Amino acid sequence: MTISQTRGPAGWTVSGLLAEIADIGRDDDGSYSRFSLSPEDRSLRQWFISRAEELGLEVSIDPDANIWAWWGPEGPGAVLTGSHLDSVPGGGAYDGPLGVASSLAAVARLRARGFRPSRPVAVVMFTDEEGAGFGMPCLGSRLAAGVLPADRALELRARDGAPLAEAWQDAGMDAGMDAGELGPVEWLTTARCFVELHVEQGRGLADLDAPVAIASAVRPHGRWRLEFTGQGNHAGTTLMADRHDPVVPLAATVLAARRAATETSEESGAVATVGRVEVVPGGTNVIASAARMWLDCRAESADVVHAVVAQVEAEARAAAHQEGCGFELVQESWTPRTAFDPELKATMAHVLGDVPELSTGAGHDAAVIAGIMPTGMLFVRNPTGASHTPDEYASPADCEAGATALATILEELAR
Ligand code: GLV
Ligand code: MN
Ligand code: MN
Repeated sequence: MTISQTRGPAGWTVSGLLAEIADIGRDDDGSYSRFSLSPEDRSLRQWFISRAEELGLEVSIDPDANIWAWWGPEGPGAVLTGSHLDSVPGGGAYDGPLGVASSLAAVARLRARGFRPSRPVAVVMFTDEEGAGFGMPCLGSRLAAGVLPADRALELRARDGAPLAEAWQDAGMDAGMDAGELGPVEWLTTARCFVELHVEQGRGLADLDAPVAIASAVRPHGRWRLEFTGQGNHAGTTLMADRHDPVVPLAATVLAARRAATETSEESGAVATVGRVEVVPGGTNVIASAARMWLDCRAESADVVHAVVAQVEAEARAAAHQEGCGFELVQESWTPRTAFDPELKATMAHVLGDVPELSTGAGHDAAVIAGIMPTGMLFVRNPTGASHTPDEYASPADCEAGATALATILEELAR
């Protein structure tokens, strides 16, 4: 771990905090692959705990592996902030970590200027926001908020196929976690509010020439797994007419998804993505026995998402039938449209002055937590507009502007 900050918490900068974790989970091309509860993620968790303790915060880990750093007693009326440290495969340095580092920096500033909160304040690091670790986006916040049943979570598997309970047990060696206790976090329903700061994942702020925005809404989105089963065979000796190759309907379905979203996207904002496919067993000279793909679909309205997925499903089924293959579609996750709390948005706008409002097509723990308490989000300008790639960026000055805005909001909410 690179330790680049020489000053104590009073002098912490957001980019200085991010520099401390810059080497963790970094790929050769400069991107990040930090899957939840992997060795990389566990190093990030240790970093978070050590920085929180240096700030004088009391650390607790809930049964869902979310880490909370408390300024004041854990419990009712708390003002919550934070984000996640895990990433997608090949992700950027800011999606998640910017919110965690900014929350730590904001609390450090408030403490340094002698602010005394009249209610507890906590910084959280949520488990597996991206779902790259266990296949369920916002796993930690869904469990904690009680919107994902524990028995459904226990069916999930890590990327290497290990059951979730095993990963929990391994990580529990240093975190004291037990998968048998997964589930809702009781005190969470008594908290006052949650505010998540996040790097913007589009060019909205760059186009508006502003460093910070308040989020208005998260568009509905979901993930589906499509399984095609065929007949494995020899690539050189099986006649074309005799094949039941599951890769063929899979390929047709990728194009169907592109077509279905594009047909409506101008008026509905629909987007459909196939970013992950698996071919089994995966040999150059082997006709596959199975092939699966994951479909991510989003739009302004849930009805449009479901209509696009229904169209893709129908085309996939027809293509599978034509090839003599089996087909199954399974919904893996769903997040409804989330409009952030109007009163909290008004408070944030009041203390920040003239800041723009933006909606987003990206998913966030804040969209889950919004189901159980007033929740808001802040976005920080990303000049490239790119995210889930190493091109994602926020300038040091904008990172500081974000932390300053967050500190102002926390001060108002916890005064
Ligand atoms: C997370 O960034 C998502 O939008 O899926
Ligand atoms: Mn992300
Ligand atoms: Mn994120």
